[in-house]
Amino acid sequence: MIVSHFKTNASSKADAVVVGMFSGRRPAPGSAGFARGMAKVLAAFDFGGDAGQVVVLPAADGRRIAFVGLGEEVDTELLRQAAGTGRKAVASADVVSTTLHQVDLDGATQAVVEGFGLGDYRFETYKSASKARPVLSLELLGGDASEQEITSGRITVEAVNLCRDLVNEPAAGKGPMAISERLAALAAEAGATATIWDVDRLTAENMGGILGVGQGSVRPPALLELHYRGRRPKAKLAYVGKGIVFDSGGLSLKSADFMESMKDDMAGGAAVAAAVIAIARLGLPVDVTSYSAFAENMPSGSAQRPGDVLKARNGKTIEVLNTDAEGRLVLADALALAAESTPDLIVDLATLTGACKVALGPKIAGVFGKDQAAIDQVLAAAASAGERAWPMPLPDDHRYMIDSDIADMKNTGAGRYGGAIAAAMLLKEFVGETPWVHVDIAGPAFFDKGEHYLPKGGTGYGVRTLIELAQSAR
Ligand code: BES
Ligand code: ZN
Ligand code: ZN
Repeated sequence: MIVSHFKTNASSKADAVVVGMFSGRRPAPGSAGFARGMAKVLAAFDFGGDAGQVVVLPAADGRRIAFVGLGEEVDTELLRQAAGTGRKAVASADVVSTTLHQVDLDGATQAVVEGFGLGDYRFETYKSASKARPVLSLELLGGDASEQEITSGRITVEAVNLCRDLVNEPAAGKGPMAISERLAALAAEAGATATIWDVDRLTAENMGGILGVGQGSVRPPALLELHYRGRRPKAKLAYVGKGIVFDSGGLSLKSADFMESMKDDMAGGAAVAAAVIAIARLGLPVDVTSYSAFAENMPSGSAQRPGDVLKARNGKTIEVLNTDAEGRLVLADALALAAESTPDLIVDLATLTGACKVALGPKIAGVFGKDQAAIDQVLAAAASAGERAWPMPLPDDHRYMIDSDIADMKNTGAGRYGGAIAAAMLLKEFVGETPWVHVDIAGPAFFDKGEHYLPKGGTGYGVRTLIELAQSAR
């Protein structure tokens, strides 16, 4: 997307304008001129300015004006949502101007750029009738707009939309090596270094978890490592992502309806890589490495069997009782590897358990860890980025959930309950003393239905939180 700042309306080339109104049809800063004389028409359309409302009206000069509701009071996330709603209301316009950034809030400009850019997203690769769409040109009309917020917003949008593209891509088009190479090329352009661990390297380096999960597929597993070191880094961060390019369940095969969306099971792996690419493009002062553990979980004559035992990178053994609990197996290796370079913080993102989605619903991620300060840091970053996350317990006395009769641990939990805790408990075995936070994104990574700036399908969840974590590093 292209973003420009205009001091006045005169030079605008926009086909449509998006303006804000508070409840009671109070014009937001910069909107009064557009709202003049509109009160009766807006009332006739039942538009009161409440959050979520939108009405599109023709202006005298033939342009369209979208009025979006901001509610009684607006915060950056509601502003981002209003911008997304506004963009979707005038979806056919290639040049759109807005005054929403004039709302009196720290970060308003970045939130508005993000709302427009994220709301503009469509995945049309496989629509044969789709024509190449011109990139959205957004004009911020009047007020102030800092270059730095515009740039942060634009680069964040591109990273989130990259993650969405990768998640929406059918599994056939994203084998572990293919997706690693695509991300490695983008990372190199951004100024980050990329290393792809192929199956030979994974074997030589004792990565038994990723190898076990990947051995049933004709497309071998791969681990993508991206590294960026900013000037005078304030923190050393490690981001780890589950990258199952398709989760059939393996020999513990999923039923057809649960398998339908399982191309999304690499959302964590894509998100951590997209975040490092954005951090490099922004030149943030951190040392950050992402580890995306890509593998395809398939049933075949070479697949791992229920009851097999794996040895992970750190030497610990895992009894694989259910081959569908594969995310924790690839993460075991990747977390152990991340911990070896002793970062200040490891954050992993994983579409790990249906149980977490059952607990928190489809919109909210579960946050687990063993260090309260680290958990608080991630929750704060998520809140300020506008991504919804909630703390979950990980009590030591629940280790029994993963006790195995024959190995150091098993990959299933104890019966039907607490499955998200059992999975997190296993991950904890692989991070040693390093501060670590696990984010279970099984719900929010992929939506059955879109709203405001979030599309149906891959949402790019987590990218904004990880960029914000780097931005707020101290
Ligand atoms: N990828 C799934 C988890 C998932 C489910 C993500 C629904 C998004 C939506 C994961 O690999 C899985 O299958 N987990 C099992 C674990 C069980 C076999 C112990 C689950 O949650 O049922
Ligand atoms: Zn699974
Ligand atoms: Zn999975």
